[in-house]
Amino acid sequence: FAVEDIRNFSIIAHVDHGKSTLADRLLELTGTIDKTKNNKQVLDKLQVERERGITVKAQTASLFYNFEGKEYLLNLIDTPGHVDFSYEVSRSLSACQGVLLVVDANEGIQAQTVANFFLAFEAQLSVIPVINKIDLKNADPERVEKQIEKVFDIPSDDCIKISAKLGTNVEYVLQAVIERIPPPKVHRRNPLRALVFDSTFDQYRGVIANVALFDGMVSRGDKIVSAHTQKTYEVNEVGVLNPSEQPTLKLYAGQVGYLIAGMKDVTEAQIGDTLYSHKHPVEPLPGFKSAKPMVFAGMYPIDQSEYNNLKSAIEKLTLNDSSVSVHRDSSLALGAGWRLGFLGLLHMEVFNQRLEQEYNTSVILTTPTVPYKAVLSSAKLIKEYREKEITIINPAQFPDKSKVAEYLEPVVLGTIITPDEYTGKIMALCQTRRAVQKHLMFIDQNRVMLKYLFPLNEIVVDFYDSLKSLSSGYASFDYEDAGYQTAELIKMDILLNGNIVEELVTVVHKDKAYAVGKTICERLKDSLPRQLFEIAIQAAIGSKIIARETVKAYRKNVLAKCYGGDITRKMKLLKRQTEGKKKLRKIGNIEVPKDTFIKVLKTQ
Ligand code: GTP
Repeated sequence: FAVEDIRNFSIIAHVDHGKSTLADRLLELTGTIDKTKNNKQVLDKLQVERERGITVKAQTASLFYNFEGKEYLLNLIDTPGHVDFSYEVSRSLSACQGVLLVVDANEGIQAQTVANFFLAFEAQLSVIPVINKIDLKNADPERVEKQIEKVFDIPSDDCIKISAKLGTNVEYVLQAVIERIPPPKVHRRNPLRALVFDSTFDQYRGVIANVALFDGMVSRGDKIVSAHTQKTYEVNEVGVLNPSEQPTLKLYAGQVGYLIAGMKDVTEAQIGDTLYSHKHPVEPLPGFKSAKPMVFAGMYPIDQSEYNNLKSAIEKLTLNDSSVSVHRDSSLALGAGWRLGFLGLLHMEVFNQRLEQEYNTSVILTTPTVPYKAVLSSAKLIKEYREKEITIINPAQFPDKSKVAEYLEPVVLGTIITPDEYTGKIMALCQTRRAVQKHLMFIDQNRVMLKYLFPLNEIVVDFYDSLKSLSSGYASFDYEDAGYQTAELIKMDILLNGNIVEELVTVVHKDKAYAVGKTICERLKDSLPRQLFEIAIQAAIGSKIIARETVKAYRKNVLAKCYGGDITRKMKLLKRQTEGKKKLRKIGNIEVPKDTFIKVLKTQ
């Protein structure tokens, strides 16, 4: 393919606006996949993705399309559609010259539509607005056109109105890709310069790096160098993605494909890295911002004998996901484990779910926390910690006020889009989360876009759920990193009969300590099963108790079902009860079901 006949593009959309459905239609229309087979959403490969209906990992496919007698190569780069994964969206976009911005004809512009549009706009890509689901009874494509004109300054005539589900007008989308998106600007005669925009790990073949070639070409047997690690590799295989891997002899500048070169884990093929020929070193391509974990949690095996199994499961999963950070950690109560960093709460849940589903492991997760910082107060301390400003990713290691000149907390700029009738309630919610309003705009007669600066810890656990429930599901939310601000923070412990629950140690804002402590105690009271003795639940700041609840004693009579005599049945029942207990965590002599703490933190 001549460079002029190549187009590299992505589909971006708010969650559920139909990105995967449109991708499937494009694949069918170009004969990449068979229409008759049950190919629903072939690009969503992982089991978790299918279950949750969200795309976690970006997938790429090359399509061949004949338009006006000419054959084109269209490289479609699928992007994930959830707020936690905006980092993956931005890295996919670096390999593209244009995007399809899909907007639901009924829901209109949502928070992620805005966030994704600006990622594409900043990358100077051509944006083709696509209004999807015009077959829906309540579809109002004209209204959405007007929103697009108002918020993005794109003439409404540019919008393509389609039904991805029924296939209506999807061919116009392909034509627009050819007509409105420029071919990549590349030089085939120059030495190789390839951008790594994604990488996956295959048990048998090692790291498979997805690459976009900006200059030159690469073939099997070539020696290449990673600009990031300066390591040299020999290329074992190159090819295109259709969407499964198909080896080819060479990849040329302008193409998007994959490359296998004996890299052992995904950290050797860092996202944003440049690969070049070892004979011709080149200036690396401008880097991406790398994945920055925003949510940290401790992970421990329920039983220490499971440590090695869990270790290898975590290692295998992180081979495929370089955005999870892993530090070894240990605690008196929970034993040896890890502190893991995730892009967001959904990312954490997905990781946990994959551990359980794919590796059959069961773990204790501690309260998620954000990365706080503390500026140390004396030269002696700075020497001891070897830095002036320390980052705290484990609340148990939160330094005492006496050592600290100032605490800092991460903040994010959040975008909320909502029908106007909920604006008042949402503003009140934001206020309880210590948020500061930055912007308010009507995007049409009855829809409002709000921007707030939020402390990240105020939205990490349940903000999204609260927002959804008070707006009957109509408000949408997305956020971007906005640095750090000073904050008055303190560490709070939760105790059960005097024993600290390590999972529930949290850092809270001074003004909220009392309320948070009280709520956690109340929720624990509701979710802790009664035991044979009374349980005192307390929240404490240092040695000061700030809240208390009590769970009354109760005797669970398993043998009541036996109606007397049969001793073997009795034994069976008793055995079942001890087996059930294996899933429990013991704090002192109190038995706590494993999911209690996560529930306590999430319930409204
Ligand atoms: P994520 O992968 O989670 O970002 O979602 P997505 O944007 O890929 O959305 P997806 O394609 O999974 O579609 C979401 C839902 O909308 C599915 O139930 C689709 O069947 C439905 N849908 C997609 N396109 C259309 C359409 O044109 N008309 C109608 N009526 N429904 C559609």
